[in-house]
This record gives sequence, C-alpha cells and structure tokens, in this order.
Amino acid sequence: MNETAIERVDAASLARARQLLEGGDLVAVPTETVYGLAADATNGLAVAKIFAAKGRPQFNPLICHVADLAMAKRLGDFDPLSLKLALHFWPGPLTLVVPQAGSSPVHALCSGGLQTIALRQPNGAMADLCAALGGPLAAPSANASGKISPTTAQAVADSLGNQVALILDAGPAPVGVESTIVRCVDNRAILLRPGGIAREAIEKVLGFALEDAMPGGKIAAPGMMASHYAPDMPVLLDARHVARSQALITFGDVVIDGSDACIFAENLSPSGDLAEAASNLFAALSRANAAKPSAIAVAPIPTNGLGEAINDRLKRASAPREIAGMRHG
Ligand code: TXA
Ligand code: MG
Repeated sequence: MNETAIERVDAASLARARQLLEGGDLVAVPTETVYGLAADATNGLAVAKIFAAKGRPQFNPLICHVADLAMAKRLGDFDPLSLKLALHFWPGPLTLVVPQAGSSPVHALCSGGLQTIALRQPNGAMADLCAALGGPLAAPSANASGKISPTTAQAVADSLGNQVALILDAGPAPVGVESTIVRCVDNRAILLRPGGIAREAIEKVLGFALEDAMPGGKIAAPGMMASHYAPDMPVLLDARHVARSQALITFGDVVIDGSDACIFAENLSPSGDLAEAASNLFAALSRANAAKPSAIAVAPIPTNGLGEAINDRLKRASAPREIAGMRHG
C-alpha cells in the first residue's frame, strides 16, 4: 500500500476527506483535543473499519461528532441539564452521553449496542466535515488500541500507518487530552471520564457537584448500561448444533445441525466477511432476542481481525455482569 497522505486542512483536502468518508473510508481528522479516526457514523461497514484499524479487542462505544446542537438533537434526547452543558461548552472538549433518539440514523455498532450515545460538537475540521456531510462522524482517538492518543498528524501516521486513507493536518491539537465525558440522569451529573474541560468549570455551570463514576456502578461502564441488544438468555459460543427452542447466529458457509427447525436463524455474513459480520452483529442479536429463544447458539466465528471483537462481545453478551470492564481506546 502507498504511504498514507498527510494533507494540511484546506478547502481541497476537506473536499477529498468528504469524498472518502462518503465512500465509507476512514480519515484521520484533527479536533481541539486529539486527532480522531473518523467514519460515517451511519455506515456500519465504515464503523467496522475503525475497530479493524485500531485493532480494538472490544467494540467500545464511539463518540459521535456533530456539526451543531441541531444535529445532536436528531441523534440524542437532551434532558435540561445536558442541554445546559451543551449550550455552554459546545463547540468544545465536552462529550455528553444521552439516550439515543428513536429516529437516530447512527449505526448500532457505533454505540456498541447501547441505548445511549456519546455526542460532541468539536472545533475545527471535524465539525466542518460533519456540516459538509450533513451527518455525524464516529471517531475514537486515532491511535492503535492501548497506545496514547495522537496530538499531531505525524503521531497518527506513526500509530496507524497505512490503515487510514488520509490524515488531515491542523498542527498540534491545542487541548492535547481527550474530552471530558458527562452523563446526566435524574438531575444528577456523573463524570465518566475527566478530560479537556475541568470538573470545576462544569460544576460552576451546573450549580452542583459532579458525581464520580463508581467502578462497578451502574453508569460507570458503558457495557453495564441497559441495552436493547444485550440478550437476557445464554449465548452459546462455538455451537455445532441448535435446538428447536434456540436462536441461531451463523457466519460464512458452515452448516449447523438443527438449523432448519430452530425458531430463528440469521447469517452475519454468508460470504465470510468479518467487517460485514461486525456491522450486523448488534441488530442480529436484537432480532434473535425478539424471537424469545431459550438460548442463542452462535456458530464458530474466526478469532482473527474483527473476529476477536465479535467473539469478545458475544462472550460479554452471555455474561452481563462481566460487561463492566470499560477500556479506553
Ligand atoms: O476528545 C475525545 O473525546 C476524542 C476526540 C477524537 O473526540 N475521542 C476519544 O474517543 O477519546 P475514544 O473512543 O478514544 O473514547 C471514547 C470514550 C470511551 O471511553 C467510551 O467508553 C466512551 O467514550 N463512550 C462512548 N459512548 C458511550 C456511551 N454511550 N456511554 C458511556 N461511555 C461512552
Ligand atoms: Mg482513545
């Protein structure tokens, strides 16, 4: 593959970035906090590429970047406190976690199957691109999983190399640490991640103290929160046969004993494409759940590439109490 292009932010490079994003490709885009690895948040295959590029072991939910508050309101339901914080701190290094709007076009893979969504209106090229696209960009920090967040275009290139079609360069990110993440519930506000806006500044606007996310607490970890998609019934991995009362999820062309008689069957990717499987995973789990099976049997899914995250999420789906571990991507 050719060396990844690093281009200064200008009209021409923004137009090229827009074209790549519309085509489902990844672009590294500067924000005031750190550089983000952006994809069209409504395109499941594009979002799956983010996880593949970062080598993430889990489908951590991603922040959706928006052009303005109007766009944010199409994606999430803003309670009065979240609205107050958005009006005060946006555009800026504050991410608000709110319930997803019923009509949200954001792909389920983007929010990791949660009912909530993390939203931020950033400054600079990321917001300009959201405006140009007329829709949200999903973007984690543009580093390989487990590495530090990049604050320069060169750091992105060093970390992700040719995993990304284009790196936009706006010089060193002025804030240099990730956004502060806050979740408001029932007239309380919880600090999920300290970041670019100080606790004190947020508390001043709220008029009361932020609560800390308790490790193991209900709101602390995205994976612990009530989910449309986390099934209540056991998930049986590496299934070779399926009972009548069970739902079946398969991958590729493997033939599973009993699949003709079971109450639900869906193939995540008949052609055996892991990115396609990733983009179908949460919706398939949701549909399997709706069939009210005694268990969800899942045929073997390869563990390479995105298969690792798919298997990880399925394991967590089968053991809700273990979902707690939140990793910073
Ligand atoms: O400054 C930033 O926030 C950068 C720039 C690119 O915007 N982004 C960033 O993204 O740091 P990332 O993916 O590295 O971290 C996102 C964090 C994760 O800790 C994730 O668990 C949390 O946001 N998150 C995303 N959606 C969530 C949700 N629905 N509920 C709770 N936490 C959520
Ligand atoms: Mg990160």
